[in-house]
Amino acid sequence: MDEAVGDLKQALPCVAEAPTVHVEVHQRGGSTAKQEDIKQSVRKLLNRHSIVFGDYTWTEFDEPFLARHVQSVAIVDTELKAKDPQPIDLGACTVVLHVFQLNEGGPSSETLEEESENITAASHWVLPAAEFHGLWDSLVYDVEVKSHLLDYVTTTLLFSDKNVDSNLIAWNRVVLLHGPPGTGKTSLCKALAQKLTIRLSSRYRYGQLIEINSHSLFSKWFSESGKLVTKMFQKIQDLIDDKDALVFVLIDEVESLTAARNACRAGTEPSDAIRVVNAVLTQIDRIKRHCNVVILTTSNITERIDVAFVDRADIRQYIGPPSAAAIFKIYLSCLEELMKCQIIYPRQQLLTLRELEMIGFIENNVSKLSLLLSEISSCEARGRS
Ligand SMILES: Nc1ncnc2c1ncn2[C@@H]1O[C@H](COP(=O)(O)OP(=O)(O)O)[C@@H](O)[C@H]1O
Ligand SMILES: [Mg+2]
Repeated sequence: MDEAVGDLKQALPCVAEAPTVHVEVHQRGGSTAKQEDIKQSVRKLLNRHSIVFGDYTWTEFDEPFLARHVQSVAIVDTELKAKDPQPIDLGACTVVLHVFQLNEGGPSSETLEEESENITAASHWVLPAAEFHGLWDSLVYDVEVKSHLLDYVTTTLLFSDKNVDSNLIAWNRVVLLHGPPGTGKTSLCKALAQKLTIRLSSRYRYGQLIEINSHSLFSKWFSESGKLVTKMFQKIQDLIDDKDALVFVLIDEVESLTAARNACRAGTEPSDAIRVVNAVLTQIDRIKRHCNVVILTTSNITERIDVAFVDRADIRQYIGPPSAAAIFKIYLSCLEELMKCQIIYPRQQLLTLRELEMIGFIENNVSKLSLLLSEISSCEARGRS
């Protein structure tokens, strides 16, 4: 119990006591250094920088041990709730270090065989995965979407005992993100899985992300489809049985389930369709009570989503199109990246929206390009609304 309390203090935003600052330490792929030794060196580095300004990442180190074993040290997520970067006195904060190495393997496919046909039923990553590195930071939202999701799922995971599955405690972790296509819902699910794996690494040694391919599953009808779904979830159950793993099941675009049901009702699909949908829903109900499972779902349509699904979601979050300010921030980070790789050369100075505000949007040599970017972002936002 003491351990759980310790975890909670680290993971939840602190209200009364010193605020918590999370530091993600990316250990190099080939490094076999002990996490404790790395943490000790990182603490020394942080002690030399008592005040930081918002999120900050170190990628170069004077100390040879850090240079050899560590790719980056990043103060993260301090800007999730604050509108602008705030000065942070590390000495007055509870600093929590999360050391992680990335799995470079890429996804593996779970295929299900049905007579002569093979269908790719799911893709599977071991987290934290190289593929999703930086994804969380690249996603920009106007409201506190990211911090709400992170806080909610972290709390529910930490409040349940790692080793006790329960039907009694209503701490279900079924998340539904809905909204127009292209607003980052699928990306956010994957980024959240990666973030939680790193954040909770003292409790779960690694993460598993299984993305169920709804399209292939529901676009092909076999007499045995229901059984195939059961077989796939049996594989997922094997992953869940390892209580050191945090298991994320992503069911993207759940509206394909609804479509299957409706087609069935209209008589245009055989009744196998409904059997498959029901099999999936039953399996979700079965696995969601396990305390190391998070079910992530998305839907591109908001109004017609299957009630069976809406009812199952414990947290529903609408993800809308980005505002002009968010579009500006996305473009700015893309341009910075292109200049860093020297695809855009020579480097141009770009101001943030906050900096533009501070100079009263006055045009001069320094602000010219940023003002143009701000104009483009506003046009884009108007075009979408
Ligand atoms: N708010 C956002 N901030 C940054 N990138 C975004 C945002 N929304 C979408 N994207 C980018 O657009 C692409 C499509 O996103 P995706 O997750 O497939 O959207 P959806 O699942 O909502 O259709 C991805 O490359 C994603 O990173
Ligand atoms: Mg999507």
